Amino acid sequence: MTVRIGVIGTGLIADLAHLPAYAASDAKLVAVCDVVAARSQAAAQKYGAESFYQDYRELLDRNDIDAVSVCVPNHLHHSITIDALRAGKHVLVEKPMAMNLAQAKEMANVADEEGKILMVGFNNRFRSDVVRVRRLFDEGKLGDVYFAKVGYLRRRGYPSGWFTVKDESGGGPIVDIAIHVMDMTRYMVGSPLPVSVTASVSKRFGACPVYSGVWQSSDVRDGLRDGNQFDVEDFGTAWIRFDNGMVMAVETAWSANVERDRVYSDLMGTKAGASIDSYRSVHKKSQWSDDRDAVRLFTETSGFEADAALPCRPVDTHLEEIRHFLNVVEGKAEPITTPHDGLVMQALLDAIYESSKKGKEVSISW
Ligand SMILES: NC(=O)c1ccc[n+]([C@@H]2O[C@H](COP(=O)([O-])OP(=O)(O)OC[C@H]3O[C@@H](n4cnc5c(N)ncnc54)[C@H](O)[C@@H]3O)[C@@H](O)[C@H]2O)c1
Repeated sequence: MTVRIGVIGTGLIADLAHLPAYAASDAKLVAVCDVVAARSQAAAQKYGAESFYQDYRELLDRNDIDAVSVCVPNHLHHSITIDALRAGKHVLVEKPMAMNLAQAKEMANVADEEGKILMVGFNNRFRSDVVRVRRLFDEGKLGDVYFAKVGYLRRRGYPSGWFTVKDESGGGPIVDIAIHVMDMTRYMVGSPLPVSVTASVSKRFGACPVYSGVWQSSDVRDGLRDGNQFDVEDFGTAWIRFDNGMVMAVETAWSANVERDRVYSDLMGTKAGASIDSYRSVHKKSQWSDDRDAVRLFTETSGFEADAALPCRPVDTHLEEIRHFLNVVEGKAEPITTPHDGLVMQALLDAIYESSKKGKEVSISW
């Protein structure tokens, strides 16, 4: 079966990840859509789509499209995903799933009612080091993992445009980048449920040229908005308790006075500790690339401490994600990311902001 695809939103992530991945697969890109007509047309030409639209509803009206990628700003994920599901399409929606838990629940319910696949773009689950740790965990090699210390830090790297406007993004680095390490870590250790959170988020620098520039929204890049609006946090930290007793400590920043950019997850297990500390698996072409693509293990053998470094090849996580999505649509694989996983992250994001606002621990009920 050739899966027939539509891509809604042809900005940066569509152009860097979704569209090239569909082009590299057996899928057929039927149509693309962007409210900016020139962007929609350019994407259609570049990736060989039959049609391009400015109104996503016209794309959804086509009955020769099986599945869509939703690659629009966060505040539009909910409405466009629901419209797509109701139109009978399978959906891969970029992270975060929605702006709040109520929206995420509605999306999951609609996917269920329509009997359609809904996956959230947690591409970091496809990192080879993450896959390897998950396997070690499943094989019992780590034992009981009781603590995870995770971070997604940029030394200098604000995005701009809708990313820094609360009503359009839902939040700053917590929503934008920390979500990746929180989700991939939860995934590596068997997907426990978060039950309480203590968090603090704050804005320390804000829009400032020396701190900005890593990820301009397409509208800022094209001069359609100035990118100066900034009403989200740029630093966040959280302490999360899970239903299996595990605790996760999180740190994230779009810019901070730290040695280097890091994406890391340090796990403490009763049989072994595992550590991932690599920016490259996420940003292969980044100037912050490093050579630490290995899972490091800390354990003991024959009564002695023993360390191991398990080399992992950097992979194109988006390509792996889209290949998986297509396999799921074709019925060849079970989704490794369910709507419930998106919803769990959304509950966590909501709780982080609530805890920070209230200045105390908040509970999450399931
Ligand atoms: N998984 C990842 O690694 C990753 C990385 C970056 C961004 N993202 C996510 O991807 C999404 C898009 O981010 P981006 O960086 O591509 O932003 P972007 O601003 O570059 O692109 C968004 C595009 O959506 C278009 N758009 C807006 N409203 C629309 C509508 N109603 N119909 C059709 N098109 C519309 C915009 O014109 C723009 O071209 C966000 O949810 C973001 O969080 C994920």
